[in-house]
Parts: sequence; structure tokens; C-alpha cells
Amino acid sequence: MTHKGFTLWLTGMSGAGKSTIAEQLMAGFHAEQAKVELLDGDIVRTNLSQGLGFSREDRDTNVRRIGFVCEILSRNGVIAVVAAISPYRATRDEVKAKIENFVEVYVECPVDVLASRDVKGLYKKALAGDMANFTGISDPYEPPENPDVVIHSDTETLSESVDRIWRELERRELITRATDLPA
Ligand code: ADX
Repeated sequence: MTHKGFTLWLTGMSGAGKSTIAEQLMAGFHAEQAKVELLDGDIVRTNLSQGLGFSREDRDTNVRRIGFVCEILSRNGVIAVVAAISPYRATRDEVKAKIENFVEVYVECPVDVLASRDVKGLYKKALAGDMANFTGISDPYEPPENPDVVIHSDTETLSESVDRIWRELERRELITRATDLPA
């Protein structure tokens, strides 16, 4: 596989499957020896964005920092994969405008499904009123208006989702798989 530098940005609510999809994509990129880095919100918040909370201002700062790293990676031929809630449309669009090859993936899942899965127990807390500023419950999530790919993680399998993302990357000629080359 050959590839260009680009940013693949997964946005969506907590528990929708962004990190799982990102990790599956990473496995695929690594198998192809691609130059790739993952910026996962949960991890970024323990280093680059340590100390930031979940106010609009702090989330925007987090998203802009992630965007800045993506910008410098992508322009140097590296693939940057992002998994972050990034709830505000205007801030996502601001980052998108700075990055030449930007693929926006909306990982959608109905909030009642997220609340019933509740892997981290955060929905339960937020629904009980014990968590202010929790995305989708006590804080906004603004879905993208024109995402490049929409994943419905409650109705499609992980491999279907990942396949659709791969196909979008190929369609945009951001990756070229060896099997696509003429014999
Ligand atoms: S973002 O809004 O700034 O993009 P980010 O993706 O980095 O968020 O972090 C989200 C993660 O932080 C969630 O997966 C969850 O584990 C945790 N978290 C803690 N508090 C909140 C909250 N109030 N809203 C959303 N996520 C929260």
C-alpha cells in the first residue's frame, strides 16, 4: 500500500465506537507498514491536554491541539487518525480548513443505545444528574452536516464500518492498495 499524508477524524459521542474503529484501522495501517499515528482523546488528555476539563473552551482547546498535531503530521506524509468526541461543529470545521487532506467520519449511535451499553458507567451518572457537561446528556453534541463517512455503530459490524472507511480513502486516492495496481 502507498499513501499520502492525511487526517482521518472520527467524531461522535462517548461510547459510540470511535476508539475501537480507530484501533482496527491502526492494525490495518500497521500491517501495511504505513506511517501512522493515533490521537485518541482519552490518551491526549493524559499528556498533550493534561489538566483540561469539559467546558466548551477546554474541549475546543483540546480539539485545536489535536488538529495542530494532525496538521504537521499530515503535511509530512504521515497518516493521523483521531478519535475524539469533538462535539462542536465550528471547531471541527476550523481544524478541517487547515488540513489539506481531511476525512471526517461521524460515528453515530442513538443515545439510548449508548446509555444502555454504558461501558464506562458515565451515562448512568450523567442521567442521574451527577455529571455536568456530559456530552449528549447535559452537554451538546453537534453532528457533522456533511461527513465523508457515517458509521451507524449500533446496526453495522466493526468490519463493515472499517471497510467503508478504507473504501472512502481509496476513492479519494489517499491510499492505494497493491491489489488495485494493474498486473
Ligand atoms: S472532547 O470533547 O474534548 O473531544 P475527548 O474525546 O477528548 O472529548 O474525551 C472524551 C472522554 O472523556 C470520554 O470518552 C469520557 O471517557 C471522558 N469524559 C469525562 N468527562 C466527560 C464529559 N463531561 N463529557 C464527555 N466525556 C467525558
